[in-house]
Amino acid sequence: MIRARGVQKSFGSAVVLDGIDLDVNVGEVVSILGSSGSGKSTLIRCMNGLERLDGGLITIDDFDVSNPKDLAEARKRSATVFQLFNLYPHMTAVENVTLAPIQVLRIPRAQAESEARALLDSVGLGARADAYPAQLSGGQRQRVGICRALAMKPRYLLLDEITSALDPEMTAEVLNILAQLARTGTTMVFVTHEIEFARTISSRIVFLDKGRLVVDLPTDRFFAGDGGMANARIAQFLSKMRKE
Ligand SMILES: Nc1ncnc2c1ncn2[C@@H]1O[C@H](COP(=O)(O)OP(=O)(O)O)[C@@H](O)[C@H]1O
Ligand SMILES: [Mg+2]
Repeated sequence: MIRARGVQKSFGSAVVLDGIDLDVNVGEVVSILGSSGSGKSTLIRCMNGLERLDGGLITIDDFDVSNPKDLAEARKRSATVFQLFNLYPHMTAVENVTLAPIQVLRIPRAQAESEARALLDSVGLGARADAYPAQLSGGQRQRVGICRALAMKPRYLLLDEITSALDPEMTAEVLNILAQLARTGTTMVFVTHEIEFARTISSRIVFLDKGRLVVDLPTDRFFAGDGGMANARIAQFLSKMRKE
């Protein structure tokens, strides 16, 4: 499991994460909702060891991301896809997907390549495997990004607003892939503004407000308005999102 306990993170004098406690069990899809600036990306970056914690603890399968000796193991278990397309522009789709399996997992090139082509095929990009990122649409690039993460055979997939730079049609292409992954039991931490989609795939919804985790509820209870003290804040957020 992924476990966060009392996670604190500040940038200068700004407290961005203020005592976050969160568990993500294998097989769960946990969506993280919250306004822009509430700390969602920072939490994902902390889970991935990209930010140093100021306090508290994050473990991935008991490997402490703050311990340099544990970080490599923690990172092997989780893979992140970010909002911006961060494919290597000088490499084809299949080369982007095989790079880490060959270099980090030491998988033989031929095997890595056949696995990468199968992954690209599974997201509808079998025919585009040898294209460069500049030759792909935004939706296609994010699907390559998902394949690149999955090629590491992670136990946990962390997704940070991966559709927010896409138009509705491309968003749908990418969300379809995520729905497929959810159905096959992939554990996901899903930061998103796609509220209705989050509702269909999530086992739990977590709501961040100004760096605090104010609600952590099963999806049906979240949308039934069981958020207690946070209800007014959540209602305001949901109504704003639905208008956009
Ligand atoms: N590297 C950084 N340096 C300074 N401030 C940052 C940095 N990263 C994020 N922040 C600030 O932390 C707050 C939370 O940011 P972020 O985690 O990106 O929120 P969200 O993903 O929910 O929109 C914001 O106020 C943002 O400006
Ligand atoms: Mg963000």
